[in-house]
Amino acid sequence: MNLEKGFLEKKIDPSLDLFAEISDLKKTKNAIILAHYYQDADIQDIADYIGDSLGLAQQAEKTKADMILFAGVHFMAETAKMLNPDSKVVVPDLNAGCSLADSCPPNEFAAFKAAHPDHVVLTYINCTADIKALSDVIVTSTNAVQIVESFPKDQKIIFAPDKNLGAYINKVTGRNMVLWNGACMVHEIFSLEKLIKLKVQHPKAIVLAHPECEAPILEHAHFIGSTTAILNYSKKSDAKEFIVLTEAGIIHQMQKSSPLKTFIPAPPNNSCACNDCPYMKLNTLEKIYIALKYEQPEILMSSELMEKAKRPLVKMLELSAKFGL
Ligand code: 13P
Ligand code: SF4
Repeated sequence: MNLEKGFLEKKIDPSLDLFAEISDLKKTKNAIILAHYYQDADIQDIADYIGDSLGLAQQAEKTKADMILFAGVHFMAETAKMLNPDSKVVVPDLNAGCSLADSCPPNEFAAFKAAHPDHVVLTYINCTADIKALSDVIVTSTNAVQIVESFPKDQKIIFAPDKNLGAYINKVTGRNMVLWNGACMVHEIFSLEKLIKLKVQHPKAIVLAHPECEAPILEHAHFIGSTTAILNYSKKSDAKEFIVLTEAGIIHQMQKSSPLKTFIPAPPNNSCACNDCPYMKLNTLEKIYIALKYEQPEILMSSELMEKAKRPLVKMLELSAKFGL
C-alpha cells in the first residue's frame, strides 16, 4: 500500500461523514484515539482520551485496545508503543515530529552524558526513544518537580532536553541541574512586549503559562504548569479572563469546560495572532481516517531499543503512581 503524503487524502470522497466513518472504524477494529490538547478541535472531539503527556502515557499503558491511533507527535506515539507493545500504534502523519526532541541528537547527548559521569540523567518525555534509552528516569511537566525532589539534595543531575523547563525546575527546587541546551520553538516564540501590552489591556486576566516558556515570560505568570494543570486551574478559578501561554489548542478544552470565561491566546513575536505547533497541526481528520482504515503509518522499533527506552519510562510511571499523579 502506497501511503505517499497526501495521495490517499485527495481520494477521500468529500461527502463522507468522517466523524461517523472514524467512529465505525474504531468499533470494528477495537481501536482507540488518544489525543493531545494541542490537536485541532475536531480531533479532540473524536478522541477517546485527551490529555497531557503523562495522562496519555498512562492511558496507552493500560488500554486493552488492539490499535492505538495516536493524535499527537512522534515521541508520544513511540512512548505509547513502548508502554503497550502488544497494541498496534498508528499515527496520522509520520512527519509530526517535535523541535524540542530534534534539539537533542543522540550522539551529542551520549558525549554530554559521558562528560558528566557521576550524574543521574533525568529526561523530559519530549525526546526520541534513542535519548530515552540513555536516560535514568523520564519526567513530564506534571511530575518533573516531584521526581527531581525524590533524589537527595546533593545528587548531581543532568536534565535534558528543555533548558527552559530545566531552569524552571532549578528555580523551584533550588537545585543546580546541568541543563542540555534544547528548547521548544512554540514556547520560545512568545513575545514579552505583546504579553505586557495584553496584561495592560486585560488587567484582571489571570496569566497561565507552560514551563517550556522562557524565564522572562514565566515571571509574568500567575500559575505555571503542564497543559492539564493549567486547564484544571482555569476550571477552578473564579476569574473571568485568562491569558494562555502555551499552544493555542488547549483553549478548546478550556472553553468547553468554562463557556462563560474568556481565554486569550498570548501572541508570538511574529504576525500570527496565536501560537500553533506546526507539528501537532499536521494531523487532520482525513489522515486519522486513513490511518485507521489502512492501519498505517505504524510505529515500529527494534525490540532492543524498546527495552532500553522503556526502563526510564516505567520508573516515571511508578514514581507518578507513588505521588498520586
Ligand atoms: P504537556 O501536555 O505534558 O504539558 O506537554 C506540553 C507539550 O509541549 C507537549 O508537546
Ligand atoms: Fe514539540 Fe513544542 Fe510542538 Fe510540543 S509544542 S510537540 S514541545 S514543538
